[in-house]
Amino acid sequence: MSESLNFWENYYSNHQIPTDESFFARFVMPFLNEGDTLFEIGCGNGRDSVFFAKQGMKVTAFDQCEKEVGFLNDEFSDLKDLLFKAGDFTDLGEQGKVKNVYSRFSLHSVALEKEINTLDWASSSIEENGLFFIEVRSIFDELCGEGTEVAKNAYVTDHYRRFLEIEPFTNRLEEAGFNILYKLQSKGLAPYKTEDPVVIRIIAQKV
Ligand SMILES: C[S@@+](CC[C@H](N)C(=O)[O-])C[C@H]1O[C@@H](n2cnc3c(N)ncnc32)[C@H](O)[C@@H]1O
Repeated sequence: MSESLNFWENYYSNHQIPTDESFFARFVMPFLNEGDTLFEIGCGNGRDSVFFAKQGMKVTAFDQCEKEVGFLNDEFSDLKDLLFKAGDFTDLGEQGKVKNVYSRFSLHSVALEKEINTLDWASSSIEENGLFFIEVRSIFDELCGEGTEVAKNAYVTDHYRRFLEIEPFTNRLEEAGFNILYKLQSKGLAPYKTEDPVVIRIIAQKV
């Protein structure tokens, strides 16, 4: 088991119940239409996927944590347009086409080359004009620099985080075949307990 998988499996073994949807999910909602298909990558305890499914989206949500995925499929078996699947989102292969892909706090969990694989996968999975919604930690997050440095802007504390620079990241999205419709780097977007990290929000459209 990889260290990241081990960390998140342990994390969810104590925090299984989905809580409220994130502020980012609420921000994204007006860009979705009822009946839209959506993949979430790195869905964690499923809170945002459950929210989107309850709002009428057809959702498939991926996470590496098999036990949590099994738990969520049992817990939400009544939601017919919601399916949780176990898998490494950097190596999902052909999963069909969707209107939207949603990634909150998951792309900073993987190394740069894995991120690039994921952007390419999202580009081939999203229908023309469909949207890719991303929220990630920025290099201006106060946590950037804490722990052991393992690569550029990547540090391990109790788990791995790679903090993103907005311009190179949007360039990589463009190289993968997206137009950037919206980008914002700020505090105040993802407060959690005493933390208020600087995060990057992107809406990218498949060309
Ligand atoms: C910080 S949590 C975010 C969870 C959720 N998106 C949220 O905002 O509450 C990161 C999640 O990404 C998952 N993850 C990290 N790397 C992954 C990978 N390569 N494949 C699948 N899931 C991964 C972890 O298991 C974890 O559930």
